[in-house]
Amino acid sequence: MKKDKILVIGACGQIGVELTLALRKMYGDQNVVASDLREEHELLKGSGPYVSLDVMNKEMLHVLVIRHNITQIYLLAAILSATGEKNPLLAWHINMQSLLNVLDIAKEEGLDKIYWPSSIAVFGPNSPKADTEQHTIIEPTTIYGISKFAGERWCEYYNHRYGIDVRSLRYPGLISYKSAPGGGTTDYAVEIYHEALEEGKYECFLREDTYLPMMYMPDAIRATIELMEADAARVKIRSAYNLSGMSFSPKEISEEIKKHIPSFTISYEPDYRQQIADGWPQSIDDSAAREQWGWKPEYDLEKMTVDMLKNLKK
Ligand SMILES: NC(=O)c1ccc[n+]([C@@H]2O[C@H](COP(=O)([O-])OP(=O)(O)OC[C@H]3O[C@@H](n4cnc5c(N)ncnc54)[C@H](O)[C@@H]3O)[C@@H](O)[C@H]2O)c1
Repeated sequence: MKKDKILVIGACGQIGVELTLALRKMYGDQNVVASDLREEHELLKGSGPYVSLDVMNKEMLHVLVIRHNITQIYLLAAILSATGEKNPLLAWHINMQSLLNVLDIAKEEGLDKIYWPSSIAVFGPNSPKADTEQHTIIEPTTIYGISKFAGERWCEYYNHRYGIDVRSLRYPGLISYKSAPGGGTTDYAVEIYHEALEEGKYECFLREDTYLPMMYMPDAIRATIELMEADAARVKIRSAYNLSGMSFSPKEISEEIKKHIPSFTISYEPDYRQQIADGWPQSIDDSAAREQWGWKPEYDLEKMTVDMLKNLKK
């Protein structure tokens, strides 16, 4: 029987740290190799193998896959939405070439499964704003969204043309307390909890009425693992699945925080990220994920706020 051996690329990022730890619990510490450009994250130290890797170096990646007998890759390295707008050509280059390197090695080495996340950023100003459907107008205007949409097409192409078992989710903005966010437009929803506890106030870079799709990290990790564990025949969408958790505005999250910290105050100073947010949907229809592989979120804004504040206080 063939044993699963997983490589996580971008393991020190906001998602990577928690996903690596969750995969190690499931597959055994030694069977999940964490890798990143950065130094090993504190929370990963001592929990399993760690290698330094630049995913843009295809030869190095190829050698690593062969040396460690890798059977599955989770590719999380990327330049996110807000950072991408500062250097569009770099974001395009890294987001595309990293995926092409991984897909091509998967083909050459006959890997079992590949995971690569997409984003709600694939949608643009012409997409419907509410309950945005899986198949609808997709005209991204940020370089991040353009690279995610092109990536989705490549994933589907490698699946249809070469039979690669590649799976993907369009994550909403992700909120977590373990590792810091990496330069996205929804980062405010993480910062606000830290500042509420440390300063008692927060200056938000989005307008108070900016509704965006969001998700608490435990739901995102579970969705990722449930998709990857689902029987291949149930995974009918090979570009990327819409995925929904909750939708709220800066005003709503601040009111939720005030229930726990009554003196908390928020002010608004929208910057360039407002324009990015204005082009995205406010809520997502994820019925395909629910119907095909049984997705169901657990956390709403109230439950997440209790958990975030409890853990950040520790
Ligand atoms: N966090 C979110 O809210 C969110 C939402 C939608 C989609 N996503 C997607 O999920 C994935 C992970 O996001 P994240 O929030 O954890 O990002 P992050 O920026 O926190 O982490 C990315 C990691 O990749 C590493 N990396 C960058 N370039 C690399 C390279 N050349 N070689 C190896 N490692 C490299 C970085 O050092 C970093 O640790 C990305 O594809 C992102 O687009 C994230």
